[in-house]
Amino acid sequence: MLLAFTEQGSGPVVVLLHGFPLNRAMWAEQIQTLSASYRVIAPDLRGHGDSPAPDAVYTMDAMADDVVELLDGLGVVEPVVLGGLSMGGYVALAMALKHPSRLRALMLIDTRAVADSPEAAKGREESAQAVLKAGSPRSVVEAMIPKLFGKSTLDQHPDRIETMRVEMEKTSASGVAGALRGMAIRPDRRGEIAQITVPTLVVVGEEDVIAPPDEARAIAEALPDGRLEVVPGVGHLSPYESPRAFDEIVLRFLQGLGRGESD
Ligand code: MLT
Repeated sequence: MLLAFTEQGSGPVVVLLHGFPLNRAMWAEQIQTLSASYRVIAPDLRGHGDSPAPDAVYTMDAMADDVVELLDGLGVVEPVVLGGLSMGGYVALAMALKHPSRLRALMLIDTRAVADSPEAAKGREESAQAVLKAGSPRSVVEAMIPKLFGKSTLDQHPDRIETMRVEMEKTSASGVAGALRGMAIRPDRRGEIAQITVPTLVVVGEEDVIAPPDEARAIAEALPDGRLEVVPGVGHLSPYESPRAFDEIVLRFLQGLGRGESD
């Protein structure tokens, strides 16, 4: 599937995959900062932003294949640094396991390795049906907002929350349902992450209630070459809530990788 995307900068490629039900707008600050030294590619995953939203179940593998297709279309043959937040992290994990030769490093941001519990999967199906019936993503967006942001963002930055609300409400009902149903059947990756040998940065917001720091720590410990960074005072959307602290962490990691074989 042809994805919409933003591409900015030149140098080693850094791909950024957004969370649910967001789109590439959540990476605006990172695109600005990182593109000074890197070629940043930020797609809208299927069902989100300006990408097509077919009536289907969007498996994490299918979304990972879309990203590979995008890279192929852009002529990116060298291994990339792949970063994904939450659902984007599920997709990044799928791509790391299915297409390992495409990665030189991985960034797992506010994401999880465990599968949904049966109750969580049931809740996702109910939400998918409600959204399709209403023809609007609003019920899911409203339910997510208090969980997406940390306390200080919720208390002090209503304007920043509003910007993301507007972006999330652009997601079509079929896009929301397709992603919910795909996430509900995503596999438990805990037994597989030891196969990921590329350097991996695991980042988590200190107040993340969706993908909590304890889970991030377990992921980092299970990875052969993993390291954990906790962003203080923020929740699930750590790159958006605290772009300066987040970008510093990422730049340090990227600089530690060097410029890649082509440089
Ligand atoms: C996300 O931020 O992408 C979602 O919260 C992921 C999820 O619902 O599991």
